Amino acid sequence: MQLKNKHLIVTGGASGLGEATARIAISKGAKVAAFDLNKEKATALENEFGDDFLFIETDVTSESSVQSAIEKTTSQLGNIHIVVNCAGVAEAKKTLGRKGPHSLEAFYRVINVNLIGTFNVIRLAVEKMSNNDPDKNGERGVIVNTASVAAFDGQVGQAAYSASKGGIIGMTLPLARDLAEHGIRVMTIAPGIFSTPLFASLPEKAKDALGKMTPFPSRLGHPSEYGQLVESIIENPMLNGEVIRLDGTIRMQPK
Ligand SMILES: NC(=O)c1ccc[n+]([C@@H]2O[C@H](COP(=O)([O-])OP(=O)(O)OC[C@H]3O[C@@H](n4cnc5c(N)ncnc54)[C@H](O)[C@@H]3O)[C@@H](O)[C@H]2O)c1
Repeated sequence: MQLKNKHLIVTGGASGLGEATARIAISKGAKVAAFDLNKEKATALENEFGDDFLFIETDVTSESSVQSAIEKTTSQLGNIHIVVNCAGVAEAKKTLGRKGPHSLEAFYRVINVNLIGTFNVIRLAVEKMSNNDPDKNGERGVIVNTASVAAFDGQVGQAAYSASKGGIIGMTLPLARDLAEHGIRVMTIAPGIFSTPLFASLPEKAKDALGKMTPFPSRLGHPSEYGQLVESIIENPMLNGEVIRLDGTIRMQPK
């Protein structure tokens, strides 16, 4: 599948890795519906890209919000060919901290946005995608999810975040198997450390230190490098049901 003339849903498309994906997709001739909560950033992107970037204020954890966003996407753009799930939150809390045990509410929140939100968008989008005419390879659509290297080497304070990302990795193969009969592929990217607004508040020194944890290249990843991998996944029909670490070979230590 090629990006040209395709329609993408990018959750979290107003910022960071999602924004970078939207930028690459639009530069290759695609149109993007960004499902996000960040109105301010999304409006700036709408102003920059005009009709190629459609912001739909959406909470990925809500059935009705995603359902109505999907209806809006199909009515304004037409068929949905690609979904890139980037909406996510990161909260760091120790299982047993100075103030007591990890809040159960915080654990639910992270699982709800990162894992359940990802599944919610997939299940409702593939209902539409499965009606697309297959291309010459029999393909009707491609889904790309975002996990994290924290699913493998989660650090102190990352129990909830790592569990949410491990869940995305765990469901990648069964999703691909479920959707094979519809000609829909499912892939997951597990990024290392990327320079996005998630790290914006960190001082330069701390960012440098994080970059140096990466053997090569010893720096934070550029969001466009994530977008580049999304494009390769879309273009390569043999990539399915697999997780790709995109991490400059970082293996994170406990802290
Ligand atoms: N930046 C990194 O180093 C890194 C590393 C590994 C994994 N990730 C993952 O990549 C994804 C993107 O992260 P990023 O760094 O671009 O962060 P970001 O904060 O720049 O972007 C995340 C976007 O998700 C949106 N969002 C949050 N909750 C939402 C909800 N309920 N419904 C809809 N949208 C919602 C936010 O408004 C934001 O625009 C996340 O899933 C994150 O866990 C990031």
